[in-house]
Amino acid sequence: MWVLLAALSPLWSVVSVVASPAPVSIAARDAITSVLDPSSVLTLTSSEISAFEPYEQLARAAYCASDIITGWQCGEACAAIPGFEATLTGGDGDAIQLYYVGYWPSQNAVVVAHQGTDPTQLLSDLTDVDITTENLNSTLFPGVSSDVWVHSGFADEQAQTAEIILAETQSLIASKGATTVILVGHSLGGALAQLDALYMTLNLPSDIHVMSRTFGTPRVGNPAYADLIDSMVPDFTRMNNYLDPIPIVPGRFLGFQHPETEVHIVSDSSDDSDVVACPGNDDATDAQCTIMMVPNVVDADILDHLGPYPGDVYIGTIYCT
Ligand SMILES: *[C@@H]1O[C@H](CO)[C@@H](O)[C@H](O)[C@H]1NC(C)=O
Repeated sequence: MWVLLAALSPLWSVVSVVASPAPVSIAARDAITSVLDPSSVLTLTSSEISAFEPYEQLARAAYCASDIITGWQCGEACAAIPGFEATLTGGDGDAIQLYYVGYWPSQNAVVVAHQGTDPTQLLSDLTDVDITTENLNSTLFPGVSSDVWVHSGFADEQAQTAEIILAETQSLIASKGATTVILVGHSLGGALAQLDALYMTLNLPSDIHVMSRTFGTPRVGNPAYADLIDSMVPDFTRMNNYLDPIPIVPGRFLGFQHPETEVHIVSDSSDDSDVVACPGNDDATDAQCTIMMVPNVVDADILDHLGPYPGDVYIGTIYCT
């Protein structure tokens, strides 16, 4: 499938000659919080846009083989985050998506990243009207109302790695004095990051700042779930690239809803000039937001799922270079 996507992609010839980027700075991280949940569509400034780049690179690295993550030798993505120490890797890319946990010294943060999956397969799975849903496991997610339900596949996958990832995160908080935990992921990995962000919030001390940056994220649960993310994980964003269909599935008609905040790249150029933040949970009324721009999967472009995200970053198995 990846070979097919690569062959289809007009971008493929471009990405293979992109020069190594300079390490990205996240001095602008605070700037991004000003765009969380705007009251109307907000065009981001260039520094707000470039603030996403380190999280894109961390999400991209989640696709890379564990042995090159351990030494932080995954090419451009690893080079963009100098000094990062990956302390736990796992998954097999099949039954369990690859993941890693590590320490980011310049941010005094623990980072948890989950791999995504084949976007064509994911789209097919999430357009199936027979999707099964379930409540969150009350051992892992104590105190969550039974009104909350999520996609069973996402919940089951998150549960498989939840405890080992939490233990490693707690260990790094203790040994490094980390004060922030950052959950990142693209595609299926974005859904897992969103669930992990809630799980971390419920299981870590309240003085630990939990934030999450996701890319090409599908809907994970119902409106009660979305409201729970909004209240428990306010420092969350999901960035959608142009005509990517993954953010519009599973459909709202099946009872799914996104949490705040959508950040939408509204053109297919890689010059980073057109990125907006959208108000509300599932903005269906503003022309620049995903639902109006991508009303159905037929009018979408699955290749946009891979990028380019700001900084001309592509995310997927073939981009561990
Ligand atoms: C909930 O999670 C706990 C801890 O991982 C596990 O022991 C238990 O079997 C799970 N319950 C269900 C119903 O899956």
